[in-house]
Amino acid sequence: MSENNVLLRVQNLKKYFPIVGGLLGRQIGAVKAVDGISFDIKRGETLGMVGESGCGKSTAGRAILQLHQPTSGKVFFEDKDLTQMSGEDIRQLRPKMQMIFQDPYATLNPRHSVGKIIGEPLVIHGIMKKGSSELKDRVVELLELVGMDPVYMRRFPHEFSGGQRQRIGIARSLSLDPSFIVCDEPISALDVSIQAQVVNLMQDLQEQLDVAYLFIAHDLSMVKHISHRIVVMYLGKVMELTERNTLFENPLHPYTQSLNSAVPIPDPKSEQKRRRFILKGDPPSPANPPSGCVFHTRCPLTEEKCITVEPEFREIHPGHFVACHLADEKGSSMIPEQTILASVMS
Ligand SMILES: Nc1ncnc2c1ncn2[C@@H]1O[C@H](COP(=O)(O)OP(=O)(O)OP(=O)(O)O)[C@@H](O)[C@H]1O
Ligand SMILES: [Mg+2]
Repeated sequence: MSENNVLLRVQNLKKYFPIVGGLLGRQIGAVKAVDGISFDIKRGETLGMVGESGCGKSTAGRAILQLHQPTSGKVFFEDKDLTQMSGEDIRQLRPKMQMIFQDPYATLNPRHSVGKIIGEPLVIHGIMKKGSSELKDRVVELLELVGMDPVYMRRFPHEFSGGQRQRIGIARSLSLDPSFIVCDEPISALDVSIQAQVVNLMQDLQEQLDVAYLFIAHDLSMVKHISHRIVVMYLGKVMELTERNTLFENPLHPYTQSLNSAVPIPDPKSEQKRRRFILKGDPPSPANPPSGCVFHTRCPLTEEKCITVEPEFREIHPGHFVACHLADEKGSSMIPEQTILASVMS
């Protein structure tokens, strides 16, 4: 991964979904699914994105790729602002920006052979001709790339396991040689034993192809191994963003600290001592987010200003960003021991 080589820059991106109601079907509110997020992704980098269900991860991924039209904000891909481009210009760039999904089965046409599924993007984008030997060679190459025997190209999606189907989905997403892939929970539906295989494959492919990933997951354990940096989302906003190791060793936001405390530690002795800091309640509705800091209703440290003033998303150390009034340079032990104990529910 090259330093300071920004591939994608997201600036204050928002995506609100209108809520319509009443007899006249007027807009009566909005779901603030993504509410002003900013970060960069470098060439060949994996940025992990975590947060609870409904915090806006998928919407963020889709808005970045312009599969949802952003409400406001900018997305620069190779220095070009996607939000200002025409549909046709976006289409031209589409091969470079791909997406893979949690359930590959839902996105693989069950009536198409694996060969057709993997080669289809090349035909649709007019890069290779249907039935050509060039296309067949490329499909063979892609199957080998994801560790599958090329004889499988004649088979159909239902003949494969979940892990193999995800490999087929990955091969398809790589067919156009993208430089960026939004990976929306690609391992969440797989057995734990298969998850590691798919993560290793994606890491190998990244090294070979210099592709960047936005790797979305519910919890930190799923992004721990693959991410270079991690962005933590809560209710449509970014709470913290930093290097992977810093996030695990010195998390500054109380929300990150709670997510972190849920990650099992491989060493049994340390695992026995691990204190879980479990948040009370569910996240509020993004249609009616809390005032001030959106996390204040669940935060064990809330003070008066957290209720009234929205914290700035600030760079507290070089490359370490946090949106919390109370985070200071000193770091990780912001939540006092007593609070951790008081918050433990199991
Ligand atoms: N097309 C849509 N129309 C209206 N509301 C939507 C739409 N898509 C998402 N939302 C709402 O936006 C919010 C964020 O949803 P999103 O799917 O992005 O969250 P997520 O973090 O990906 O959740 P999960 O972890 O469950 O996949 C939710 O409140 C959701 O109900
Ligand atoms: Mg999602």
